[in-house]
Amino acid sequence: MKILVATQKPFAAVAVEGIRKTVEEAGFTLGLLEKYTEKSQLLEAVADASALIVRSDIVDAEVFDAAPELKVVVRAGAGYDNIDLAAATAHGVCAENTPGQNSNAVAELVFGMAVMAVRNMYAGTSGSELKGKKLGLQAFGQVGRNVARIAAGFGMDVMAFDPYCPEEVMVQAGVTPVHSVADLYRDCDLVSIHIPSTPETRGSIGADLIRLMPKGGVLVNTARKEVIDEAGLKEVLTARPDLKYVADVKPDCAAELEAEFPGRVFFTPKKMGAQTAEANINAGIAAACQCVAFLRDGDDRFRLNKA
Ligand code: 3PG
Repeated sequence: MKILVATQKPFAAVAVEGIRKTVEEAGFTLGLLEKYTEKSQLLEAVADASALIVRSDIVDAEVFDAAPELKVVVRAGAGYDNIDLAAATAHGVCAENTPGQNSNAVAELVFGMAVMAVRNMYAGTSGSELKGKKLGLQAFGQVGRNVARIAAGFGMDVMAFDPYCPEEVMVQAGVTPVHSVADLYRDCDLVSIHIPSTPETRGSIGADLIRLMPKGGVLVNTARKEVIDEAGLKEVLTARPDLKYVADVKPDCAAELEAEFPGRVFFTPKKMGAQTAEANINAGIAAACQCVAFLRDGDDRFRLNKA
């Protein structure tokens, strides 16, 4: 049986070696489709795959239609907005993610970008420090918790808004729970976004929220570009020359923002929050183990969709 790794943005070679070892030692065959540019290449490669490991690659009904043998698809990572869960269920495929495996990498990048923003994009002008600043976490999942852990080392005062997370969990982590997302934006010098992209969250961060940020505020987005209402963001960046926006998920209007707000916006050329050898190894090998466990024992403890 073939376990296919299909990644437009490939894992580090060392992670692929680990995946291969996991797959072959369990008696399965590894298929590898890296850096593909056409969907047709994916459709061809999945034809005889029993399991599929992807990153942000789109897995929709067309992919499931092309994969008659497919039993399990694992998103090596956290966000699974790239997988059509209803189509997976309709095709009898178990869809899983690997929660937590790449979250430290994303959390470290939050600080890479936050320091860059408060030091005026390293332009050489006098900036400010993170120590003593208020950091607001919009969601307190695995990434948010790692950001809070690192923020303590910077001497930041951390707050979080997450209606799905018990307050005790935040308090135990030394984080102050806030009771509305508006309070988070109003109270915090830096806000770091960690919500998933869902029908409810798409376009949910717009002018009404961003304009609440205090003077000199920095908005950091390592989550998904879709959660931002780009017209609202642009409106506030125009009205408030003191605010900055840094993102690992390039907005559709990136070129326009870069031209209009030089020194106040920064976007990575390609989503790179989880692009470390460690995160690739953790998420890639976890995905391989989950494929093996599902194919061999029917273990579906990471299932995301209805059976
Ligand atoms: C995730 O949801 O796990 C991160 O956004 C990482 O995505 P990537 O695997 O495409 O880098």
